[in-house]
Amino acid sequence: MKKVALEELKKECLVCSKCSLGETRINIVFSDGNPDTAKAILIGEAPGENEDKTGTPFVGRAGKLLNEFLHKAGISRENDLYIINTVKCRPPQNRVPTDDEKSACSAYLLKQIELINPNIIIFCGATALKSFYDKKTQISKIRGQVLDIEIAGKVRKCIPIFHPSYLLRYHSLEEGSPRYYMLEDLKKIKELLK
Ligand code: URA
Repeated sequence: MKKVALEELKKECLVCSKCSLGETRINIVFSDGNPDTAKAILIGEAPGENEDKTGTPFVGRAGKLLNEFLHKAGISRENDLYIINTVKCRPPQNRVPTDDEKSACSAYLLKQIELINPNIIIFCGATALKSFYDKKTQISKIRGQVLDIEIAGKVRKCIPIFHPSYLLRYHSLEEGSPRYYMLEDLKKIKELLK
């Protein structure tokens, strides 16, 4: 039932022309993960070049780094997560999606959340955080905190984490470094998934 509804929604996205990103996309990037077993939704920013080419979120450099961190924290990308982005089409030159583009896409995103119905939502990066929370809040100030936010008809536990693209710039795993916090936050999420 859930899978059928998601397939129907994907069909709508495939022909979507609600914003200009539809004019330049190769593929829509609908989701990754198992809708039947996922306990959390991870929301990234937007598809990049590799995602546009393959139709799958987080498959480029940032995605590989995300996979490494998920593995270290004991979270299964395939079974525990359902991965989506704030928009389904790649913004040209990988720019940040505009508010209008995010609004045009939000009905699809909210429907996916409603259908998967997770108790936990991970805001992966500032763009995802700002889509659901006070725009002025910096991710570095709030990452790792559990925020109760009503999304798609239900209060859900939302946890902001750094975006893996940001972590590509910092290599240290030393206490207090961005990579250190990423691992801490994902370990906390692993506990919440139990
Ligand atoms: N960055 C994102 O935020 N999402 C992707 O799917 C890929 C890179």
